[in-house]
Amino acid sequence: MSSEIGVRETIFKRIGVHSHIRGLGLDEKGRALFIADGMVGQTKAREAAGIVVKLILEGKIAGKGVLFVGPPGTGKTAIAVAIARELGEDTPFVAMSASEIYSSERKKTEILMEAVRRALGVRVREKRLVYEGVVEKIELRRARHPLVPYMTIPVEARLTLFTKDDKVTLTLPEEVTHQIIEMGIKKGDLIWIDASTGRVFREGKARGVEKARYYDIDTKRILDIPSGPIKKEKEIVRTFTLHDLDFRFSIERSAVSIVSIFGIGVTKEIPSEIRKEVDELVKKWINEKKAELIPGVLFIDDAHMLDIEAFSFLSRAMESEFAPIIILATNRGIAKVRGTDIESPHGIPLDMLDRLLIIQTTPYSKEDIAEILRIRIEEEEIKISKDAFDALVEIGCNSSLRYAVQLLDPARILAMNEGRDEISRDDVLRAKELFIDVKRSVEYLKKYEEMFLK
Ligand SMILES: Nc1ncnc2c1ncn2[C@@H]1O[C@H](COP(=O)(O)OP(=O)(O)OP(=O)(O)O)[C@@H](O)[C@H]1O
Ligand SMILES: [Mg+2]
Repeated sequence: MSSEIGVRETIFKRIGVHSHIRGLGLDEKGRALFIADGMVGQTKAREAAGIVVKLILEGKIAGKGVLFVGPPGTGKTAIAVAIARELGEDTPFVAMSASEIYSSERKKTEILMEAVRRALGVRVREKRLVYEGVVEKIELRRARHPLVPYMTIPVEARLTLFTKDDKVTLTLPEEVTHQIIEMGIKKGDLIWIDASTGRVFREGKARGVEKARYYDIDTKRILDIPSGPIKKEKEIVRTFTLHDLDFRFSIERSAVSIVSIFGIGVTKEIPSEIRKEVDELVKKWINEKKAELIPGVLFIDDAHMLDIEAFSFLSRAMESEFAPIIILATNRGIAKVRGTDIESPHGIPLDMLDRLLIIQTTPYSKEDIAEILRIRIEEEEIKISKDAFDALVEIGCNSSLRYAVQLLDPARILAMNEGRDEISRDDVLRAKELFIDVKRSVEYLKKYEEMFLK
């Protein structure tokens, strides 16, 4: 394990339309404020989601599931995004659409297995012996390059670190010297070096170090000069996902590391023995109190697209020792379970439904729609006239909120084309003509069915 991997790397790639959502907008008693954190209305569903967040953070619903049901555009995906925001950095949150499991290159269960493993975090605490302090001086010793005689390369460094109470000069071997050069470590940086592995970490820059350079725009954190000894035991906390560990182990096992040649992730399968090994290791860490498991969330949108195989995989995954919380969302009523002839509520098999807490989202009132549109308009920094806004609200009520949200951008472009920066009522109506909603596209196809394919 050589580097920390952010557990949040897998968060929503398609977050665009939900960028205004900052949280669930609940007060300290868990009651939904009508408008807060970019959320509007849908108060029952948000309060229920708040309870789910509490249970997740307490580690109480690992292995269970939640299902969001409601008509299209009523905020199911938005609330799932809000849950992710509420959970904070350390809890893994993996979002996928059910359709992503159908790939020509990888097995469905392999894709799901990876998603499950990404949704399981391991927080590792380690006490390490380190040298920690502010850099006072770096002196490099250079030697002739072994192959290119007229070149010299740094082979050793003498590094002086200080704290409020201590000062030490370390002689560093070549590998550590190279890290120091590559990381651009300079006077005034607060760093620590792992005494046994030689890994160098920069925590930031110390405040007020004489002759150190400070910039008006500084990307480094400015910290106080620490006190105490330079050489000490430090508790280091890192969070990995089980998938990070699977991946790392499988690279180490393969003789040639194909994965790193071009720096491109290879979508090869991770052998199940490797996963078993990782599980054993993690269990051992947990028993030795070196690590704790953080069950995260696997969110599967449009869950009616999952098939019977996928559901049975997920049921099994929910029963296993390390299980994430599974959150599903769907807008279907009674539907066939994919891959079978069986009709079931929401297209989800009954034994799966049995394990799910169901949260309902309900259609919006005109006021809710107006409020949500107002927030989106602010978020996208769009200017719009009063009657254009009213027209958009009208569209939101008659077609769908989603459709009204989607018309914003085309209307903005139409206004821009005319050299205006404010959307007018005509722009909205024209956008509505150019981009039709589902209802109209179905009507159109029905009307012309005769003329289409026969
Ligand atoms: N209560 C809400 N507060 C603020 N924004 C909302 C709310 N509900 C929905 N939205 C926004 O409205 C749009 C449509 O909502 P969303 O995509 O969450 O609907 P959905 O229930 O997931 O629909 P579908 O069933 O079609 O997937 C999104 O831009 C979303 O961020
Ligand atoms: Mg959705």
